[in-house]
Amino acid sequence: MKTTISIIKADTGSVGGHNKPSEPMIGKAKEKINEALKKGLLSDGKVTYTGDDIALLMIHTKGVDNPDIHKLAWDTFCQTTKIAKEQGLYGAGQDLLKDAFSGNVRGMGPGSAEIEIEERPAEPFIIFAGDKCGPGVFNYPLFEAFASPYHNAGLLLAPDMNAGFTFHIMDVNFTEADKLITLKVPEDYYDICTLLRDPNKYIIESVVENASGLVAAVASTSRLHNIAGKYVGKDDPVAIVRTQKQFPSTGEILSPWALAHYTLGDNRGSHHVAVMPVKQNSIISYFDGPTIMSAAGYCVHNGKLTEAVDMFDQPFWDLIRNKASEKTLEMRAQGFYGPSMAAMDELEYTGVVENLKRLDKRFVLRNQK
Ligand code: F6R
Ligand code: MG
Ligand code: MG
Repeated sequence: MKTTISIIKADTGSVGGHNKPSEPMIGKAKEKINEALKKGLLSDGKVTYTGDDIALLMIHTKGVDNPDIHKLAWDTFCQTTKIAKEQGLYGAGQDLLKDAFSGNVRGMGPGSAEIEIEERPAEPFIIFAGDKCGPGVFNYPLFEAFASPYHNAGLLLAPDMNAGFTFHIMDVNFTEADKLITLKVPEDYYDICTLLRDPNKYIIESVVENASGLVAAVASTSRLHNIAGKYVGKDDPVAIVRTQKQFPSTGEILSPWALAHYTLGDNRGSHHVAVMPVKQNSIISYFDGPTIMSAAGYCVHNGKLTEAVDMFDQPFWDLIRNKASEKTLEMRAQGFYGPSMAAMDELEYTGVVENLKRLDKRFVLRNQK
């Protein structure tokens, strides 16, 4: 029997600004997941939040892209939106970009990652959920964890992983269809680097182990401004990563997050800041950020989840949180100059473009040939 792990998240309104969903919203989401458990649609489920996004973790046997599961998520987010409106919360329904549900949340605003697996005797995995960033935030940590012996000692020490991994990479700026390339490490190492260096365009969709053909990781690939054609909030991605045995260990998967790498996101989705690894259910604060990432470890067995282990709730990560704050402050000290703010084509707000058009009229030509 196969088990499906689905994680679907959305910002449907928040308290204080773009900071945190309200308790009644979270309560409603839990109620909807509990109803689905009682009906037998789900074998297990959890509701968490990261910044202003509510994430629904759903365990079932219906496979990926199942309309009933996606409808459950959509209906839940419609209900939390209703509460957000009743409470006068900010950005109510922000990530629900379409009026009518059409069978799948992809392309409709919410972020999703799903994986169908044959459960191993022990099936540990990690759910990553980020806020104030795009899906490219996973390029660095996923590629390093699966392809670099600096982080994944198993590539050298564990024979299972010697054959490396295959990366399915999507060009997310191509909107007419899903545009994908399949490349393997070690053979295509430099070609993969050539693509992943641009995390706003080329994004890891999934990682497969070469020796077994098993899917090791899946990540969300949606970019809201590509769906809506204008700024409607940052993409705020999720990922599911299976760990141990034939895959990198849990610690190897977490290792690259100690860099607190710079990513595009934060305030108005338009600034480069360092990713801060945070505890579950953390809020957004400084400069509408910083960009945060949470990591919950679980095991699943016969469709039932264990309790979560909060992977970044450990003293080691306090040092990394401080480092992330320092790195973010260093970048913020440069304000809007150069790399601190996004390049023109990635600015989430269009004000600059309009201002430039207006100013262009005031330029005068000198020494015209
Ligand atoms: C970034 C984000 C916030 C908002 C900012 C302005 O993803 O959610 O930084 O962009 O607070 O929000 P609006 O335009 O809704 O007033
Ligand atoms: Mg928001
Ligand atoms: Mg968000």
